[in-house]
Amino acid sequence: MLEVETPLPPCNFVIFGATGNLASNKLIPALYRLELAGKLPEGLSFIAFARREFDDAAWRENVKQLLQARFEADGELLARFAARFDYLQGELHETEAYERLKEVLAKPKMGVCSNVVFYLAIKPTDFPAVIKNLDCCGLNKPRGLHRIVVEKPFGEDIESARVLNELLHRYFEEEQIFRIDHYMGKETVQNLLVFRFANTLIEPLWNRNYVDHVQITVAESVGIEKRADYYDRAGALRDMLQNHLMQLLTLVAMEPPPALEADALRDEKVKVLRSIRNISKRSVHAHAFRAQYKAGNVAGLQVQGYQDEPGVEPESVTETYVAAKFYIDNWRWRGVPFYLRTGKRLKEQLSIIAIRLRHPPQQLFRETPLETLEPNWIVLSIQPEESMHVEIHAKQPGLDMDTRVIRLNASFRKPEENPLDAYDALLLDVIEGDHTLFIRFDEVEWAWRVVDPILKYWAQEREFIHTYPAGSWGPIEANRLFDSEDTEWRNKL
Ligand code: BG6
Repeated sequence: MLEVETPLPPCNFVIFGATGNLASNKLIPALYRLELAGKLPEGLSFIAFARREFDDAAWRENVKQLLQARFEADGELLARFAARFDYLQGELHETEAYERLKEVLAKPKMGVCSNVVFYLAIKPTDFPAVIKNLDCCGLNKPRGLHRIVVEKPFGEDIESARVLNELLHRYFEEEQIFRIDHYMGKETVQNLLVFRFANTLIEPLWNRNYVDHVQITVAESVGIEKRADYYDRAGALRDMLQNHLMQLLTLVAMEPPPALEADALRDEKVKVLRSIRNISKRSVHAHAFRAQYKAGNVAGLQVQGYQDEPGVEPESVTETYVAAKFYIDNWRWRGVPFYLRTGKRLKEQLSIIAIRLRHPPQQLFRETPLETLEPNWIVLSIQPEESMHVEIHAKQPGLDMDTRVIRLNASFRKPEENPLDAYDALLLDVIEGDHTLFIRFDEVEWAWRVVDPILKYWAQEREFIHTYPAGSWGPIEANRLFDSEDTEWRNKL
């Protein structure tokens, strides 16, 4: 985002898994938006690598159709964008395909250039094969110039994350590695930094003296979308909480970094993760709750339960909902619970960070109808709306001492400004070589450490899982995590 570590932009961008969902739904549209914004370097070519049969012309046509279905795509620009693509048909596990890739890379379309981005938009189980094959064919060199982008999940527990990291480091330098968590590219997430550190108004309140608790919710109304083979092994804790929600937590809780540089920011995030109180085996029950959706009705549509989804084990106890409570034992946050929850097939798609402030110390309005004042909230909405607002009380006009809640709305997008997708910003950062919004391995490792006791405990308890009807806000039993009786989940903006 801010610093550009190498002045040379890449001239080749290889997408492994180009025919997959991630490439079609996220990467190719994001690259096209960068083209529209005039952000793609002149000499940049894309190489789509996948198993399915296409020749270059058919693939370019496929790219055009894909984009025309999404955008009112401009003919000339679209043609120019599609012309950047070549298609390379190959098996991820066969060295021969990488030899052919090497030949293609040796002849860049637009002049001499040796910078390449390799994007692994593939199943995590295929990462090792690609990493090793890139090395076999010398495609990881010259070190420092070629970049590799690794999608989450980064491992499935702390041990496998370390193994993957060691493998990467055997063949690539750290500066070549971009571990992506697309939540870091979301506009509100980046705005959180500005909101906190560019406004004197907010920061003095942002601590244990004024904050009662923090809620981070990522609710999805979608189910597992034909990803049973991955999801049934992963579950919500690995799929969402260990990475996306933990990243949000670090940004809410961290201290201001000395500079907005990649390592300065990431150092602060790691300090937060290191300060999270360890959850002992005995306290897992008090800190984490899991559940699975059963059949129900989402937005008027009857949907099946998780165990009936194609590809899911009939007796599966994989969680599609997780709620957890963490304490950050440092000067700023000691004693403030951070409640995190995420789930599939919930009532709505809603991702928010909601910060509840403490009640005022003096009950001045005790003898009036205001006796039970609602608390103040600061709410940052990530999606579907991107907004920030503060809720405060004001007296209702009239003879009685009644209040209403007023929202100080700091929505930052004007109607004429188009929303960006998280991948737009992150892909541009990869092209420019900026690591700021990418994840360093110590972050991954500490985040695994935090959730590891929960994973281990749940792995032993395979007989039973709570359920919730699809289309609800999740299981009521998750409320047992709350420290105080007047706490409830915030299910709206
Ligand atoms: C992915 C998860 O990382 O994030 C998916 O694997 C989830 O299960 C998705 O649906 C959510 O991303 P977004 O950007 O739609 O909130």
